[in-house]
Parts: sequence; structure tokens; C-alpha cells
Amino acid sequence: MGRPKGNPKKEHYYVAAKKHGYRARSAYKLRQMATRYDLLKGVRIVIELCCSPGGWTQVLKEMEPGLEVIAADLSPMQPIEGVKFVQGDITDEEIISEIETLARGAADLVISDCSPKVSGQWNLDVTRQLFLAEATLDLGHRLLGPKGKVLAKVFQGPGFEEFMARSKSKFGSVKMIKPEASRKTSAEMYILAIGPRKSGTN
Ligand SMILES: C[S@@+](CC[C@H](N)C(=O)[O-])C[C@H]1O[C@@H](n2cnc3c(N)ncnc32)[C@H](O)[C@@H]1O
Repeated sequence: MGRPKGNPKKEHYYVAAKKHGYRARSAYKLRQMATRYDLLKGVRIVIELCCSPGGWTQVLKEMEPGLEVIAADLSPMQPIEGVKFVQGDITDEEIISEIETLARGAADLVISDCSPKVSGQWNLDVTRQLFLAEATLDLGHRLLGPKGKVLAKVFQGPGFEEFMARSKSKFGSVKMIKPEASRKTSAEMYILAIGPRKSGTN
């Protein structure tokens, strides 16, 4: 992934996150997308995959303190009040089933900011990342109601076009977003998918 030139510790969003007490500069990405696309409007239950260290989770609770948040990651996360956390692999069926149980089988929004451990081989890293993004879309497709939304990070690389085609077959509306806080040099984008197509609808 592209790194900014110069000292990253002086980078605008890095400095702002430190000052604000956000656990990650990526908090600004979610804040910008949630504001621009009114993501939290009418939302009661959010499932957040790949949440650690918790910058996005902080933003969710800051913007809508009443939200019910079920968050999961391979790595531990320092607790955040009102957030139920599951530690584990989001591609593991048992972990997904635990998340679904905590959400009582329903959600209004599913979000993820997954990055696999970087292997150094770009094609492999993209394949693994898109697999995590697809797991997010599949969970959303299963749990969301007709107006439900999924927001997921995606790396643009080999397999991306096929991933997009599958996403469009599963959701009524699919768009790509690049928030200002996402580095221009980074291949990361976010997919916003709305309205799961259940068989025979949309
Ligand atoms: C960029 S970080 C997320 C940052 C987070 N949005 C924040 O604001 O704090 C990516 C996360 O993906 C998680 N991750 C990668 N593969 C995973 C998997 N298979 N299951 C669960 N979490 C995974 C990593 O542990 C890491 O915490």
C-alpha cells in the first residue's frame, strides 16, 4: 500500500487522530463517508468486521451513541462502552454465527475495513483482501432488510472486476467511494452496497 512521502507522524489525519484520541487515523475515513452518505440514518444495529484497534467503532458511538454495535477482529480490541466484541476470524463460520447470534439475526448496516497481513506479493494480498470484503457482503446480504447497507474496504487489483460483478448481482445499488482521508497513493477504495437482492426481487 502506498505510504505518504515525508514523516508519516506529521501527516494531517495522523496528527488530528492523536489529538482527538482516535485509536486510528482511519476513523476520519468512516466519519467522512458516514456524513457524506448519511450512513447512520435510521440505523439501530451495526455489525463491524475487522474493527481493531477501534477507530471506526469510536466514530460509530460518537456519531450515534444509541447504536447497538457488534464488532469483530482477529486481534483484541480495548473495550468501548456499549459495544459487543467478538475475537476471531471473520471467515470462520463459528465466529460468523456468534456475531449473528449477538445481532439477534438482523442488522441495518454491515461495515468492514479489513486488511490481511501483508505477504509482500501484491496479487496474493489483493485476493485475500477481496475475500474478506466478499465475506462482509455475504453477511450483509443474509442479515440486512431491503434498505440495508454494506460498506467495505476493497483493494483494486486482480479479481476486482469479477468481485464487482458478483456484488452487483447481490445488491440493488453498488458504488465505489474514496474518502478524502484515504491516501491518494493507496489502492484502497470502499464499496457501498445498498438493498440486498433476495431471490426474485429488485
Ligand atoms: C486497517 S485495520 C482496521 C482499522 C479499524 N477500521 C480502525 O479504525 O481501527 C484492519 C484489521 O483487519 C483485521 N483482519 C484481517 N484479517 C482478518 C480476519 N480474517 N478476521 C478478522 N479480522 C481480520 C486485522 O486484524 C486488522 O485489525
